[in-house]
Amino acid sequence: MCGIIGCVGRAEQTLNTLVHGLEKLEYRGYDSAGVGVAGDDLSVCKTAGEIEALSQKIAGKQFSGTVGIGHTRWSTHGPPTDNNAHPHQDCTGTVAVVHNGIIENYQTLRDELAANGHTFTSDTDTEVVPHLIEDELETGAAPEAAFRSAISKLEGSYAIAAIVEGTEALFAARNDSPLVIGVGLDEDGNAEADLTSDGPFFIASDVPAFRDFTARVVYLDDGEFARLDGGVQITDQNGTTVEKTIETVSWDAEETGKSGYDHYMLKEIHEQPRALRQCLSGRVDELGGNVDIETVGELSPSRIQFVACGTSYHAALYGSQLLTRAGVPAQAFLASEYATSPPPVGDSLVVGITQSGETADTLSALREADRRGAQTLAVTNTVGSTAARECDHTLYIRSGPEIGVAATKTFVGQLAALNLLTLSTVEKRQTRRQIVPALRDLPGDIQHILDESNAAEIAEEYADSDAYFFIGRRYQYPVALEGALKLKEISYEHAEGFAAGELKHGPLALVTDQTPVFAVVLGDGEVARKTVGNIKEVEARDAPVVAITDGRNDAAMYADHVLEVPETHPRIGAILANVQLQLVAYHIANGLGRPIDKPRNLAKSVTVE
Ligand code: AGP
Repeated sequence: MCGIIGCVGRAEQTLNTLVHGLEKLEYRGYDSAGVGVAGDDLSVCKTAGEIEALSQKIAGKQFSGTVGIGHTRWSTHGPPTDNNAHPHQDCTGTVAVVHNGIIENYQTLRDELAANGHTFTSDTDTEVVPHLIEDELETGAAPEAAFRSAISKLEGSYAIAAIVEGTEALFAARNDSPLVIGVGLDEDGNAEADLTSDGPFFIASDVPAFRDFTARVVYLDDGEFARLDGGVQITDQNGTTVEKTIETVSWDAEETGKSGYDHYMLKEIHEQPRALRQCLSGRVDELGGNVDIETVGELSPSRIQFVACGTSYHAALYGSQLLTRAGVPAQAFLASEYATSPPPVGDSLVVGITQSGETADTLSALREADRRGAQTLAVTNTVGSTAARECDHTLYIRSGPEIGVAATKTFVGQLAALNLLTLSTVEKRQTRRQIVPALRDLPGDIQHILDESNAAEIAEEYADSDAYFFIGRRYQYPVALEGALKLKEISYEHAEGFAAGELKHGPLALVTDQTPVFAVVLGDGEVARKTVGNIKEVEARDAPVVAITDGRNDAAMYADHVLEVPETHPRIGAILANVQLQLVAYHIANGLGRPIDKPRNLAKSVTVE
């Protein structure tokens, strides 16, 4: 992962622009941070720790130059130390490089460079790049040619930006890691500025890094190079100019702020009603009960395979249930294990669920599906992401930017979008007539939970527990898994989710009076009755029980506490139950004083396999 930022043409604002961009990218990693600025001299400042530590280290320093790069790191090669922080430099200190990705042949390159007299100061794979550029410059190559030649020697994934002392240009290249260029307004505030205007220009791993300065963007594709100076030139591997379209992102800069909430995660939990309205807008015809999602309307696959990771995998499990029950056999695969799955047959559709659209494991599985001849569909939040551009079809969840590392509103958006996918491609009018009104009411139902939830009191009650278990059946099973993942990733407490029926086959041995069990029980059917039976089993072992229920079953009778959700169809109720569990996780973690938006060892976008 890691986040990179670069800018040209911001004059004396270069350093501030870089630090501001890094603050916006910190969700991509926060092990170390650094900046480099080139003018007549090249200045670099970097440190282990978060951006705050970098700001303190920079304070009082003079950096002159109009071209700069910055980096916030999620460690892959080497621990989070000052030396391993980016930018990395060559032996002469005249080249600085930031990188996101993994250079797979770095050890070979490093051995060759070391044998030729280069001295390395870090454990990273990235450091070979400035030394390769240095070698080329020593042969008399111009900086851009030196950069291109160095990049041509790399194998692996990279979004790389480099600057060279005495050169008022920034050089960038992309392969399998995201990189987007921002086209700034010119001096006259001309919003029509293009790639030939005077800039300023930005380059970053993600749009929020420069969204305060411009909404106009150009997405680089794999194998492309960019030169940013007085204008932007984008070329392919042969040096041929590539014509690109400037796109305008639809969300405002304020959407990437905390809006008065203590944490992005809490803000994003509260944004869910609005995010859902955006997701459903124009796609659901409430009167006719019809659902129409652009780009996917014509699909009628005979089988579906889902590939996804983490929270998105839980959405995939939910989606596979929706489709299978609607008559299309569907299976969910962890993207990192997809290689061993049975190959898609016939007119199979492979659906990659990924909020970022950049998760390396998911992209890799989608590419494998493409090689196997399947149609591919990306269900994603990120316009212009690699998944969106590489798949045959895209279904946007329209959740707006999500900064908190723990996915919340994008999970809810994924579940809603999967309902739309199922309704529009498979389900009959009768089902649509049941589900469409439930979807329509969903934003209001979530708002009701946000206004009335007692999750904070329950979190306080169970803050000192030994472990936390989550159980559910059918649509509530993925929600149980997600409840546990959310809690463990932000609280660092032990939490596990189980299919409720599985508890008695082993995990019951873990249950004590110090292990609260959160049971999701919706509706009044067979599924609910069986889960109530499982509640009785844990209750008999003295475990405290918190029922997340719509009150249409006996769960409350056997539970110590209840988290209520409004009555609706159980498959939609699962989305509501998830919101209660998001709040439980948030309040437990907050009570423990955890850094909720930046949990240790994690990053928002996992661009390594
Ligand atoms: C969610 O809280 C996690 N941060 C993580 O499991 C995430 O869902 C996973 O890495 C997949 O990300 P994606 O949706 O961007 O592909």
